[in-house]
Amino acid sequence: MPEARSIVFASGKGGTGKTTTVVNTGVALAKFGKEVILIDADITMSNLSLVLGMEDIPITLHDVLSGEATIKDAIYEYKGLSKVKVIPGGLSLEKLKKAKNYEKLREIIMEIQDMADFILIDAPAGLEMTSVTALLVGKELILVVNPEISSITDALKTKMVAEKLNTLPLGAVLNRVTSEKTDLTKEEIEAILEVPVLVSVPEDPEVKRASAYGIPLVLKNPDSPASISYYMLASKLAGVPYEPPKPESPLSRIFKGLFGGRRR
Ligand SMILES: Nc1ncnc2c1ncn2[C@@H]1O[C@H](COP(=O)(O)OP(=O)(O)OP(=O)(O)O)[C@@H](O)[C@H]1O
Ligand SMILES: [Mg+2]
Repeated sequence: MPEARSIVFASGKGGTGKTTTVVNTGVALAKFGKEVILIDADITMSNLSLVLGMEDIPITLHDVLSGEATIKDAIYEYKGLSKVKVIPGGLSLEKLKKAKNYEKLREIIMEIQDMADFILIDAPAGLEMTSVTALLVGKELILVVNPEISSITDALKTKMVAEKLNTLPLGAVLNRVTSEKTDLTKEEIEAILEVPVLVSVPEDPEVKRASAYGIPLVLKNPDSPASISYYMLASKLAGVPYEPPKPESPLSRIFKGLFGGRRR
C-alpha cells in the first residue's frame, strides 16, 4: 500500500469537537472504501476509545511510548469494521506516568505509514509539548473550530505553529454551527484563519446521544445533520462522490412519527 495521508486534527481551544470529528470522519472514510487508522494522541485526556465504545483495552499507546509494547500490539480493529483500526490512548493513570517519551510518537507513526490510506490523529488541546508534538506527527492539519472568536484566535496560533513545523494546513472544520446571530460566519472565519472552511457541521443533539451509546454518529444515525457533514468531509478527503439524502418533507416526518418509520 502507498504511504498514508496523515492528518492531525487540532484546535488550540479545548472541547471544539476534535475527537467527534476524527471518529466520524474516519468511519465515513471507511464507508467510502478507504483503510483508516485513528490515533488517540491526546494521551493525558484520552477519550477516543470511549466515543467508539471500546473499553478494557489491554495495550494502548501508553505502553508503546513507555517501550513496553510495539505499535502493532496496540492497533485494534474496530468492531466489525475491518477498514477501521484504532490506536487507543489509554485510560490508566499508572500507565500514563510511564509514557514519558512522547516525542517517540513520530517514529511510531512512521512504522505504520504503509498500513492505511489515511491516518487521522486526534491531538490534545492547547499548545503544550504534547500538542506541538502531535502537530509534528501529521503531514497535514485540519483545524476544528467553533463559530466564536476565542476558538478562532486559538486555532490561528495552532496554525502558525504547524506551519513552522512544515505541517500543511488543509482547512478548518467549522463545528457546532447554530442559527444564532452571534455565530461568526464562514467567510469571517476564512478571512481570519486564511484557510478554507472544508465543511460546516451543525449543532446536533444526536452527537451527544451517539457518544453516550459508544457508537459513531455516522453509523448510528447516518442521515442526521452532523452525519451528513462528516460524510461530506470524508468525500472531499477521499475524492469520492457523496449524494446527501434529500431533506424530509414535513408531511413525511409526521407519517414517520405516526407509524414508526425506518430505524437504523
Ligand atoms: N456538532 C455537534 N453538536 C452537538 N454537540 C457536539 C458537536 N460536536 C461535538 N459535540 C459535543 O461537544 C463535546 C466536545 O466534543 P469533543 O470531545 O469531540 O471535543 P474535543 O475537541 O475532542 O475536546 P477535548 O479538547 O477535550 O479533547 C462533546 O460532549 C460532544 O458530544
Ligand atoms: Mg478530544
